Amino acid sequence: MRLEPEMTQTLTLRQPDDWHLHLRDGAALASLVPATAAQMGRAIVMPNLKPPVTTTEMALAYRARILAHRPADSTFEPLMTLYLTDSTPPEEVAVARNSGCVHAFKLYPAGATTNSDSGVTDLRKVRHVLEAMEREDMVLCIHGEVTDADVDVFDRERVFVDRTLAPLVAEHPGLRIVVEHITTKEAAQFVTDARDGVGATVTPQHLLVNRNAMLVGGIRPHYYCLPILKREEDRCALVTAATSGSTKFFLGTDSAPHALHTKEAECGCAGCFTAVSALELYAEAFEAAGALQRLEGFASLHGPAFYRLPVNEARVTLVRRPFEIPSEWALADTVVRPWRGGTHTAWSFLRSEAAQ
Ligand code: NCD
Ligand code: ZN
Repeated sequence: MRLEPEMTQTLTLRQPDDWHLHLRDGAALASLVPATAAQMGRAIVMPNLKPPVTTTEMALAYRARILAHRPADSTFEPLMTLYLTDSTPPEEVAVARNSGCVHAFKLYPAGATTNSDSGVTDLRKVRHVLEAMEREDMVLCIHGEVTDADVDVFDRERVFVDRTLAPLVAEHPGLRIVVEHITTKEAAQFVTDARDGVGATVTPQHLLVNRNAMLVGGIRPHYYCLPILKREEDRCALVTAATSGSTKFFLGTDSAPHALHTKEAECGCAGCFTAVSALELYAEAFEAAGALQRLEGFASLHGPAFYRLPVNEARVTLVRRPFEIPSEWALADTVVRPWRGGTHTAWSFLRSEAAQ
């Protein structure tokens, strides 16, 4: 990574990947695939479509629909995931592995978030699938929140860590697990202390703001995502973890667009759309922590190492020049508001250079 201290005006790093992304489907792919392909070499594509992507066959068909919208000059690679359900057959793991295109299974506790009704109701029901994943060395991505009605929404991640994640990590010592979009100091600590093979992704919004940004002085639906924004002490712990240089933490935007009218509603959808300014936002967070020199590890090196994939050979450059995040973005026949739309970032994404 090239970065001169003091008057640094440009920041050149190996092309990053997004290890947690919602690309949606259908006409939405036309604007979402180019948006991510502009910045990222690859992306772990979440399977929470309607209906969810539960089989390798469905994932391969979804992958083809994504690639149909890849810009002509792009080498962007969608890394597919399968949605784990109570009835996933253990044999599906080997089928997924042998496809070469499926890189993880996604565990949504039933009802935890957008389109998670088919999620797992009891981990005991998927024990044999998890054992097959251990054997096949298939990554398990986890939405780490309990869904019990009596657990406060702000406590759902830390309760999950104690009640579900810790026993799961212990019971499957060979299972590689990514705790997705961590939001609490407890989750950051758990992953830091965990055995090898346990990692976490962190979103830009959870590095940049706490729940006050969503709730003080008015309610801001575009800041609402799951897991929900937490306290300042949690944000600080996430920044410390992400900028520590630990290879356990890597970039995953959780960019999750919803049509404007479905967020600005009586019962608004969860999800922040960050794909159009992902690297600019991460650069802002790392610079604020005085850790720009650690951005490349987090964005471009730790994820490939965890997923056992080569790093990208292309380089990308950010320049210190204000970038105005668009306040509206066309999504199929509707409009979405990018997270922090209308505000500026200090860094602008410049260009993607092919490998030298
Ligand atoms: C995601 C979505 O909209 O698909 N929403 C979100 O708030 N993050 C689902 C998810 O990853 O939880
Ligand atoms: Zn997500």
